[in-house]
Amino acid sequence: MSESLAGKRIIVSAGPTYEDLDPVRFIGNRSSGKMGFAIATAAAQRDANVVLIAGPVPLPTPAAVTRIDVRSAAQMREAVLAALPADLYIGAAAVADYTPRQVSGSKIKKSGETLTLELVRTPDILAEVASHPMRPRLVVGFAAETENVATHARDKLDRKQLDMIAANQVGIAGSGFESDDNALTVYWSDGERALGPASKKQIASELLDLITERLRR
Ligand code: CTP
Repeated sequence: MSESLAGKRIIVSAGPTYEDLDPVRFIGNRSSGKMGFAIATAAAQRDANVVLIAGPVPLPTPAAVTRIDVRSAAQMREAVLAALPADLYIGAAAVADYTPRQVSGSKIKKSGETLTLELVRTPDILAEVASHPMRPRLVVGFAAETENVATHARDKLDRKQLDMIAANQVGIAGSGFESDDNALTVYWSDGERALGPASKKQIASELLDLITERLRR
């Protein structure tokens, strides 16, 4: 029997962000949003009050979840900050790290043989939530790594002042972006636990078990 999260307010971010170049083009990524939606679903089933900030994904809204749809990293940041205060923030979205410096109001016409785009860094929503005056009690991040998973994940845990980070190794079959299955290793200051390989539904449930344990400390 899963433990109740009744009375807890949980903000989950999920899916990709799309950074517009002009009225018809954008820079995006292959995040399906499935992991974040599975977490939002599982948290609502445990009676948490869940706000799901979703990038552009065609997934149905989980039952009893408040969904706010956004497109860009800037919009996601605004929606997440507006949803504070909360007991818990889970940043499962694949937020674009860079966005075009300028968005053209009209369709960019082809001209030369090459085209150079200038991109600027987006604000790190996860780090901002973790250092916010209204910081949730627990801030959980995600990391997609192709190598040295533990080292990179622990570095992000420290650098962004997180309570936990869930790392998945991308580029291996049966896990990651588009799959219904996943395998994660969750790291915190004095421990770690491997979850899966299993369905994203199962992983979401096990991740919430770990989080509930931490909230009790
Ligand atoms: N994230 C965020 N805002 C951003 C970029 C990332 O909130 N602008 C969050 C994601 O939701 C996820 C975690 O940060 O929880 C992923 O971090 P990642 O982008 O992998 O880490 P970086 O520190 O950017 O490291 P690198 O790109 O070098 O792997």
